Amino acid sequence: MDLSDKKWSILLVDDEEGIRKVLGIALEDIGYEVYTAENGEAALDIFRETNPPIVLTDIKMPGMDGIELLRRLKQESPDTEVIMITGHGDINLAIKSLKFEATDFVTKPINDEVLEIALKRCRERISMRQQIRAYTENLEQLVEEKTEKLLEAERLAAVGQTVAGLSHAIKNIAGGLKGGAFVLEKGIELDNKKYLLQGWEMVKGNVDKIKNLSLDLLNYAKAVEVNYQLCDPNTPAKEVGDLMTPTARERKIDLKVILDPGLKPFWFDPEGIHRCLLNLVANAMDACMDCEPCGHEKEVILETVRRDGWSVEYRVSDNCCGMENEIREKIFQSFFTTKGTRGTGIGLMITKKTVDGHEGIIEAESEKGVGSTFIIKLPQKSRGDVGNMTVDQGTSVQS
Ligand SMILES: Nc1ncnc2c1ncn2[C@@H]1O[C@H](COP(=O)(O)OP(=O)(O)OP(=O)(O)O)[C@@H](O)[C@H]1O
Ligand SMILES: [Mg+2]
Repeated sequence: MDLSDKKWSILLVDDEEGIRKVLGIALEDIGYEVYTAENGEAALDIFRETNPPIVLTDIKMPGMDGIELLRRLKQESPDTEVIMITGHGDINLAIKSLKFEATDFVTKPINDEVLEIALKRCRERISMRQQIRAYTENLEQLVEEKTEKLLEAERLAAVGQTVAGLSHAIKNIAGGLKGGAFVLEKGIELDNKKYLLQGWEMVKGNVDKIKNLSLDLLNYAKAVEVNYQLCDPNTPAKEVGDLMTPTARERKIDLKVILDPGLKPFWFDPEGIHRCLLNLVANAMDACMDCEPCGHEKEVILETVRRDGWSVEYRVSDNCCGMENEIREKIFQSFFTTKGTRGTGIGLMITKKTVDGHEGIIEAESEKGVGSTFIIKLPQKSRGDVGNMTVDQGTSVQS
């Protein structure tokens, strides 16, 4: 019998000493390491100590019989292969033992060849189980590796998209700077003060753009950190309204701020939300400027609304140019802009990231030629919910 390079161990259980001895020697002769026990209780003790993969047990024994031993072994170690030794009249018991998942049974007097076949079957089952286990583990590892590769590819694609957008934004600014430098040079060459001033304004404007771009990028990187404070949700809306009113007047836009006085303070990042609302109002006002002379009064409304299941809903709407569906689907993509050199496409990208950080929702409704409404909903958060996040204790509660 080929037991290959590995020495298999076997526990032989029989109340008859003679059988233990003879069978024990026979099994050792064919290469097994043999442990013996004279009853079920002793067998369990030895099994727990030595943990052999195969058990060969008599079915009829005083005390704990072979079937009970089989049941307990399978309960403790389901992979153990158990061969039952039965007498001639024990066929019913043998069938019962198969129900408890015995691997095989051999009848007394034991025929060496029959025993060998039963043992071979045990070893094959054990090897197969090991192979399946190794294969499954391999498969799991393979799936893990493939998933990681896919995620990495997705990450790289996202980085690629961001870099492409960013280089587009920088190229625009560089173009503006070059134009400014050209006008400046002409001014110097022709000693023309008008050109000098014009060129200088262009250079200054683009330097501002670079400054804003880098600030925006910094904010974008920071936007993942939600600096939770217990704060009145109307505060950032009011601040943005105050900040933008002079520009709105200049542009002849009617900027209305409508605050719901019934809103309760809750945990959110007031600075982050301030930036979001500022972006939305700036966009709405840009839309008004981009609107062809439409005759009607241009209006931008910034509203706070109570909404069931949410802490607050912010709404920023305008009655200006609106968007085609095709554009609306892209507006939250990194660096997407329709404003050419005037825009960088960072505004909504930061806004979405901040809202996502709050586990909130941002939506845009728009109809070409009618206007757009941007909606931000922030979830209810209590002190406990924000416990694990970056929380600034400096509260600014204004209830
Ligand atoms: N209220 C709106 N009406 C019409 N179009 C809008 C409105 N808000 C956003 N958009 C569209 O979404 C695009 C992306 O907006 P986003 O704020 O991300 O970038 P931007 O305003 O172009 O540039 P930035 O905000 O970086 O200066 C805009 O270019 C514009 O096409
Ligand atoms: Mg914008």
